[in-house]
Amino acid sequence: MDSIIVTGNGPLNGSIPIAGAKNACLTLMPATLLSEEPLTLTNAPRLSDIRTMTTLLQSLGAEVSGLQDGQVLAMSSHDIHNHTADYDIVRKMRASILVLGPMLARDGHAIVSLPGGCAIGARPVDLHLKALEAMGAELDLREGYVHAKAPGGLKGGTFEFPFVSVGATENALMAATLAKGTSVLKNAAREPEIVDLARCLRKMGAQIEGEGTSTLTIQGVDRLGGATHPVVTDRIELGTYMLAPAIAGGEVELLGGRLDLVGAFVEKLDAAGIDVTETSTGLMVKRRGDRVQAVDVETEPFPGFPTDLQAQMMALLCTAEGTSVLQEKIFENRFMHAPELIRMGAEIDVQGGTATVTGVNRLKGAPVMATDLRASVSLILAGLAAEGDTTVSRVYHLDRGYEHVVRKLSGVGAKIERIKGE
Ligand code: UD1
Repeated sequence: MDSIIVTGNGPLNGSIPIAGAKNACLTLMPATLLSEEPLTLTNAPRLSDIRTMTTLLQSLGAEVSGLQDGQVLAMSSHDIHNHTADYDIVRKMRASILVLGPMLARDGHAIVSLPGGCAIGARPVDLHLKALEAMGAELDLREGYVHAKAPGGLKGGTFEFPFVSVGATENALMAATLAKGTSVLKNAAREPEIVDLARCLRKMGAQIEGEGTSTLTIQGVDRLGGATHPVVTDRIELGTYMLAPAIAGGEVELLGGRLDLVGAFVEKLDAAGIDVTETSTGLMVKRRGDRVQAVDVETEPFPGFPTDLQAQMMALLCTAEGTSVLQEKIFENRFMHAPELIRMGAEIDVQGGTATVTGVNRLKGAPVMATDLRASVSLILAGLAAEGDTTVSRVYHLDRGYEHVVRKLSGVGAKIERIKGE
């Protein structure tokens, strides 16, 4: 298994290009199943999760090409001959459940493996299923699979999510585009990835109102056509790299960055002592003083502070002046990076969903282990300003969500290299 060695070596300067959003791409790709005509995505990120979704779609009969040169994904689902999403693929990636709504809506039947447990909590899919049931789906859970049927097609329905779920909103939104009649999704997720999906579906001919608000109204249509759509900028990759100069010092421009994607995060950075300014090509980030100030953070659905930036923010606050309290409100068990940061000299006390971080002057490099996608990048960020070498092992987690980490960070002056393992 490969590992990454980072050596803290002072301020970073230059620019980092931000890729298309993994999480947007993972929901735009299954949208191909809604139409017999081609769907082409541009600005797609080159990530192992995207390759996993490609394999899943191909296993169903979709044609997906363009992966090698990255960025352009040409898809066509004119011949879906298999309606079973197999456990062997689904277990690798929870987002696989997103093929359920589209397949069911288009062909009236689908069998999808339930995603297994996940390192950052139980993460059930009950809301995905309840929203589809509200559109008339008949569901049967057998031997680890959801067997879904809608013999006369899905029918428009109203569903109020008891709490916000990004994935369940996406599944229901896609299914509703081909349901007969009007569907209303209340307490829907408002994430930029949902807005991006709604815009793409509209290009395909769907009738959707309200994206970016908590009520989505969808007027079902008989069929959807083809489209070409650019994947929205990855706000999590953006926020992650904004923390590089915040932690190591210097001044870095994030190309393609937009304030509206990271509003709540930028507010916290400002309170910690980090300047973020808009440029004609992105966002410029610079730390005001030598040391950042402690801030309290609570994760929330968009437009609140994203759970996917909590681990990285903790890496920053490990060396802040004062004590910060981080509350994780979306996922239980999402502090697995804390013990690893403690190995680097951080002072962190975790009690349930709350982590109290008392800033130290400087972290010290150590061998650490990546436990999930965002945790792994938080350890790399921490290593950028630590004394000595930080070796992060199990970096396959990182490959799921960050393309060219070594190239991007060394491009702004970081000392970082990837070591090939067996
Ligand atoms: C998506 C993102 C993930 C991000 C998360 C929250 C993708 C591929 N992944 O995940 O990176 O961390 O949003 O911003 O886009 N829940 C249920 N029942 C359900 C669905 C969810 O109880 O049917 C719970 C989850 O366990 C969690 C909460 O709802 O506690 C929010 O999860 P959700 O928004 O659905 O996250 P994902 O869509 O899986």
